[in-house]
Amino acid sequence: MPPARVFPVSIQMKEAIISLPHTTYSVHTGASLLQQAGSLIRHRLPKARRAAIIGDETAMSFHLGTLERSLNDARFSLIAHSIPSGEAHKTLNTVSEIYTLLLSNKFERSDVVISLGGGVSGDTVGFAAATYLRGVPFVNVPTTLLSMVDASVGGKTGVNMPQGKNLVGAFYQPELVIVDVTVLNTLPQREFVSGLAECVKHAIIRSPELFTYIESHVDQILNKDEQVLTSLVADNVAIKAAVVMADEKESSVRAHLNFGHTFAHAIEKECGYGTYLHGEAVSLGIVAAGYLALKRGLVSQAELDRTEMLLSKLSLPVRSSVLPDKAQLIEAMYQDKKVQNSLIRLVLQKNIGDCLIVNDATTHELAAAWDYITAG
Ligand SMILES: NC(=O)c1ccc[n+]([C@@H]2O[C@H](COP(=O)([O-])OP(=O)(O)OC[C@H]3O[C@@H](n4cnc5c(N)ncnc54)[C@H](O)[C@@H]3O)[C@@H](O)[C@H]2O)c1
Repeated sequence: MPPARVFPVSIQMKEAIISLPHTTYSVHTGASLLQQAGSLIRHRLPKARRAAIIGDETAMSFHLGTLERSLNDARFSLIAHSIPSGEAHKTLNTVSEIYTLLLSNKFERSDVVISLGGGVSGDTVGFAAATYLRGVPFVNVPTTLLSMVDASVGGKTGVNMPQGKNLVGAFYQPELVIVDVTVLNTLPQREFVSGLAECVKHAIIRSPELFTYIESHVDQILNKDEQVLTSLVADNVAIKAAVVMADEKESSVRAHLNFGHTFAHAIEKECGYGTYLHGEAVSLGIVAAGYLALKRGLVSQAELDRTEMLLSKLSLPVRSSVLPDKAQLIEAMYQDKKVQNSLIRLVLQKNIGDCLIVNDATTHELAAAWDYITAG
C-alpha cells in the first residue's frame, strides 16, 4: 500500500492518469507546483534516497533553487547538473556525460533521475535514465509549453545523430510528470507562442471544445494567466494521454499527432533549422494541411478561416515569404522518416475536432497547399 498523500493538494492542481499495460503514472498540472515536487515524488517513490536533477542550463538557472528546496524538504539527498541549452546538445555525448555523473556518484536503481527543462532536456535525460543500469526511475519536470503539452507525455526519449533527428532512443515512461505553469513566466514569449501551435493541433484533431476555449481565452493565454494556463495545459495533456494510452508505440492513432508536421519538417529542413521555431513551422503546416483538406471537401472554408484567424491571433504565422521553391519542399516531404513505401502519410482534419490519415496526396495537391501558404 502506498503511504497516504501528505502533500497539500492545491485547488488548481489537475491530474491526468496514464494507464499502460506495464505502468501507470500521473501528470500533475498546476501553478507553483515546483514547491510540491518533493512531496509528489516522495509519494510515488517512498524508498528513493537520492535524486539527480539534470536539466537545461537556462531553466536550471531560474528554477533549480525552488525544486532543490522542495526535494530537500522531502528528504532527498541531491546532485544537480546542467546541460547546455539547445538542440545541438541532444546527443550521445551529453548522454555519456550523464552516465559519468551518475556512475561517479554511485547512483543506484532505487535512486531517481529528474529532468528540469524543455523537450531537449526531457528527451536526453529521459534516454539516459532509460539506459543507465538498464533503467532507473525518471521524473520529468517540463519547463516549456511544448514540453508540457507534448514531449513530456508519452515516453518517447532519445537523441539526434549526425544523420538526423531522434534516430536513437527508447520508449521509456516516467514515474511522474510535474507541470508547473508558473515556470512559463521566464520562458521567452516566442518559445511560449511556438508551443501554442501544438495546443491548436490537439484541438483540431480531437476537441472542438478545446478549440473554442482557446478562441475565447486568447488574451489570458498570451498574458499567461495561471488559471487559464492550468486549464489549457491540463486539457492538452488529457488529449495526448488518451492518444498514448490508445497507441503507445505509434502503430495507429498516435500518428494523428503528426498533423501539420509533414509540412513543418520540410519547412524546418529547407529553410534551415532556426529560421522558424518548431511550433511556427507547425502553424504553417496546419494551414497547408487545412487547405488540402478544404480541396478534398473535408473542411469548410469557414472552418479553415477560423483556424487561420486563431493562429494569427496567437501570433503564429499562417503565410511565409521565405519558403524555397515548392518542388524542393515536396522533395523534402518524400524524405521525411515517416514516409512508407514512397507514400507520404498525411494527417488531414475532418472539420474541427476529428482527423484521418491519407497516403494518396498527389504532387499537384501538395504544390497547391504550398502555394496557399506562400505569401505575396
Ligand atoms: N518526446 C517527445 O514525444 C517529443 C515531442 C515533441 C518534441 N520533442 C522534442 O522536444 C525538443 C524541443 O523542445 P522545446 O521546444 O521544449 O525546446 P528546448 O528544450 O530546446 O527549449 C527551448 C528554449 O527554451 C529555454 N527554456 C526552457 N525552459 C525555460 C524556462 N522555463 N525559462 C526560460 N527559458 C527556458 C531553453 O534553454 C531553450 O533555449 C525537440 O528536440 C523535439 O524533438 C519530443
